[in-house]
Amino acid sequence: MSIVHWTPDFETGIGFVDAQHQDLFEAVNRLGETAAGPESAAQTARILSGLVDLTVAHFRAEEACMQAHAFPGFAAHASEHARLMRELQRFQDSVEAGRGLPPGSTAFLAEWLKHHIQESDRAYVPFLKAHGVA
Ligand SMILES: [Fe+2]
Repeated sequence: MSIVHWTPDFETGIGFVDAQHQDLFEAVNRLGETAAGPESAAQTARILSGLVDLTVAHFRAEEACMQAHAFPGFAAHASEHARLMRELQRFQDSVEAGRGLPPGSTAFLAEWLKHHIQESDRAYVPFLKAHGVA
């Protein structure tokens, strides 16, 4: 079951951002399939940890780019990232404690991602493009 579909609506036109966002969509879909299936706690933990690694790498790359160009909305944007990392940590704690993913986790992640890309990420695009980021 695919819960987030990539469409051109999500494109920012910044190469590394679009590539990483597509990987995140795939990782959220994999997690959604796991949550819906008979997979073991170990498999859920592995897939969740893959998603966490991709998210950390993506946020680092995006934040480094915003900082390198002194994007004025950096602090607010980075705090949105930090809030998501706290949620992911909560999901990992739950899986590690043997309780599985909290109900609604993957739907929450799908909505967060779509909303964050279309609102918050979109807000830095003209600024970064004007600074030569492509
Ligand atoms: Fe972001």
